[in-house]
Amino acid sequence: MSKNNIYIETYGCQMNFADTELVMGILKNQGYQLAKEINDANVILLNTCSIRDNAEQKIYARLEHLRGNKRRKPGTVIGILGCMAERLRKNLIEEKKVVDLVVGPDEYRRLPEFIDSAFNGEKGIGVKLSRTETYDDIIPYREDGLNAWISVMRGCDKFCTFCVVPFTRGRERSRSLDSIIEEIRQLSGRGFREVTLLGQNVNSYIDSGKDFADLLAASAEVDPRIRIRFTTSHPQDLSEKLLHTIAGYKNICNYIHLPVQSGSNRILELMNRTYSIEHYLNLIDLARKIIPGVSFSTDIISSFPTETEEDHKMTIEVMKQVRYDGAYMFKYSPREKTKAYEMTDDVAEEIKARRLSDIIDVQHQISYEINNSQIGTEEIILVEGNSKKSDDFLAGRTDTNKIVVFPGDEKINIGDYVKVIINRATSGTLFGEVIPG
Ligand code: SAH
Ligand code: SF4
Ligand code: F3S
Repeated sequence: MSKNNIYIETYGCQMNFADTELVMGILKNQGYQLAKEINDANVILLNTCSIRDNAEQKIYARLEHLRGNKRRKPGTVIGILGCMAERLRKNLIEEKKVVDLVVGPDEYRRLPEFIDSAFNGEKGIGVKLSRTETYDDIIPYREDGLNAWISVMRGCDKFCTFCVVPFTRGRERSRSLDSIIEEIRQLSGRGFREVTLLGQNVNSYIDSGKDFADLLAASAEVDPRIRIRFTTSHPQDLSEKLLHTIAGYKNICNYIHLPVQSGSNRILELMNRTYSIEHYLNLIDLARKIIPGVSFSTDIISSFPTETEEDHKMTIEVMKQVRYDGAYMFKYSPREKTKAYEMTDDVAEEIKARRLSDIIDVQHQISYEINNSQIGTEEIILVEGNSKKSDDFLAGRTDTNKIVVFPGDEKINIGDYVKVIINRATSGTLFGEVIPG
């Protein structure tokens, strides 16, 4: 009889999505089957995120719902993987009776063992963090496709005062350059067209004297048809060498995600971000000089403890100065164990809501203006599939990570590069026509 049928749902950042593929690789190697539908599964795993309280609330609601699955199919095993497993540990099993196993991000090799014990009625917990685990030798299980995520490092040593990641993912460690390059080679052979190198702070990557710029260059050299993207860069560690490397290779995308978090030096200091706004803006200028046409996105936390109206305005000023192509914007959410948790979360809820909507409006307007200024320009698009709204249209992204929608044509296949002239824009999408040739 085939072993158990496993279904995994993934929440949180791209690193969790990459980890799910690792977990599937580990389970497949041990002869487990992956279920296509949740209703066919007798093992349901949730790969979870703890970054903000609402991320965890979503999982609790999901667990309530999964109680029904267990009732309908007694013996179903339910497990929590990822950052909540690490943060809440045995409390999850004690408080949520529906949970049978809890396995943190550095213990996935032991997952088969935990699943087998769960079928014997034993609840299992594996939440040790490791200083060395990079899953270097595990081949992730990936469906054929265009884009692959590759975690090049794990953990984070930055300890920004708001952030739970150093507690849920442990210390920083890098995967070997050779094994990453070998993986990209295999992806090239399978027809992948885009690789995104992932880490909480990719600029700290180091393997036998090779830094992230070296890794990026080596990745770009594997196959000129593969676009290389990466995330996330910390403004303190992004080097000039890295900027020159991006400029030096056509297939390294001209797009940098560079979280600023706040426009106020006082708040940046309280956040332990270790850079000033002046340093940050200089870096943006330098990048624009070295990489003409580079685009930026950012993360912003609104209403960190003690944030005043003045601080809030400074954030808006920085947004207007940089003119980001896109931004992920969040209300501050206190997380246990972090330094900021000891500060009073003193910005009233209605002020938090208003400030968040202020910055969202500002970004919306900037994205709209930037996208409209692209009308009439020509862009090379990697065709990713049909557009969300209609099968008569195709969609893909520019080098600078903007989504472009254009009329389909039977001669154009998914994975092709096409030249498109932009003729219309909204704040989220560009529209255009293919230029033959
Ligand atoms: N390593 C990345 C970020 C990972 S978390 C970096 O340093 O940029 C993604 C984003 O979530 C962060 O950039 C931050 O904007 C947001 N975030 C993290 N902790 C948060 C918290 N406690 N409350 C609100 N937003 C938070
Ligand atoms: Fe969190 Fe800061 Fe590390 Fe990013 S760099 S994961 S925000 S501690
Ligand atoms: Fe969430 Fe963990 Fe990623 S807290 S953002 S899943 S590293």
